Amino acid sequence: MADISELIPKKVPEYIPRKMYGTTDVELMKAAYESRSPVILVGRTGSGKTHLVKYIAALYGKPYIRLSFANGMTLEDLLGYNRIISGDTVWEDGFLPYCMKNGIIFFADEINFLDPEVAAVFNSILDDDRQLVNTLHGKEIIKPHPDFWFVAAMNSGIQYAGTKDMNEALIDRFEYYMEFDYPSMSIEKKIVKSRIPDIDDRVLNVIYEIFRQARNEFSDYNIDISTRLLLRVCRLSDKLGIENALKLSLYPKLKSRHKREALNIMVKKIIPPDMRSNIDKSIKNTIEDIYDVSIANG
Ligand SMILES: Nc1ncnc2c1ncn2[C@@H]1O[C@H](COP(=O)(O)OP(=O)(O)OP(=O)(O)O)[C@@H](O)[C@H]1O
Ligand SMILES: [Mg+2]
Repeated sequence: MADISELIPKKVPEYIPRKMYGTTDVELMKAAYESRSPVILVGRTGSGKTHLVKYIAALYGKPYIRLSFANGMTLEDLLGYNRIISGDTVWEDGFLPYCMKNGIIFFADEINFLDPEVAAVFNSILDDDRQLVNTLHGKEIIKPHPDFWFVAAMNSGIQYAGTKDMNEALIDRFEYYMEFDYPSMSIEKKIVKSRIPDIDDRVLNVIYEIFRQARNEFSDYNIDISTRLLLRVCRLSDKLGIENALKLSLYPKLKSRHKREALNIMVKKIIPPDMRSNIDKSIKNTIEDIYDVSIANG
């Protein structure tokens, strides 16, 4: 596997802390990291879970591996397997023993997709002694390196209910269960400013007002009007104007024509006339084509 120092995240954008349980998410994560307590981050898509874990790894200068369980993860991927190399059988550690032995932060992203049979592997490392018995490798007992830390994340909400039911016994074992919603308006504005420092304040305020109203009107667990989407609209607005940026990002989230029309009325009321899109006709046609396609597919 990779040289371990290459697994230390570099150039991670600033993470803006949000208030959580009387402190902040960053302080909670630091406390969890310092005691190597297992953490699970549960929340809406695009709310900052992945960024926070990477940020903490960078803050402490520690190597980390993020595995997405959405693409399927076998017991062999996690624990290891035998390889035949020039006629000899050679054992190759899977991700979990590799991280445990080398003191690497193991980030199990989208852990709700995990197969319940595979989930049992994690139960033991979340128990008090934190050790792993590698059943695929002669019951090797693996004790974690002092820098090993186990973090998981999963999305909440009904659109994820169809994914594998999270094994209660597993969830129960995490010492920190942190729930993530979208940050408050003032934090979200700070996030945008830190990522897009040149953004015009007026533009940001208009976009934010559209998001605020759209969240009240349409955001439920079927439609995520996320911080990720907010950042995308802000970036695109710079080149295309606010209305077109919305057509490429927020409108396609709404699957019915009726909802899109309601959004359109809302948007037209919020954007002042001097900020209406004024872009080159050829770009405009392209955008409208894309928009029509997305309506047709929606
Ligand atoms: N507090 C924050 N500070 C800085 N950036 C943030 C913050 N919260 C969210 N973001 C930004 O919002 C975007 C979405 O965040 P991220 O990818 O971490 O979400 P997520 O919760 O992991 O989503 P998913 O469930 O879809 O994986 C990223 O660009 C991230 O940098
Ligand atoms: Mg993520």
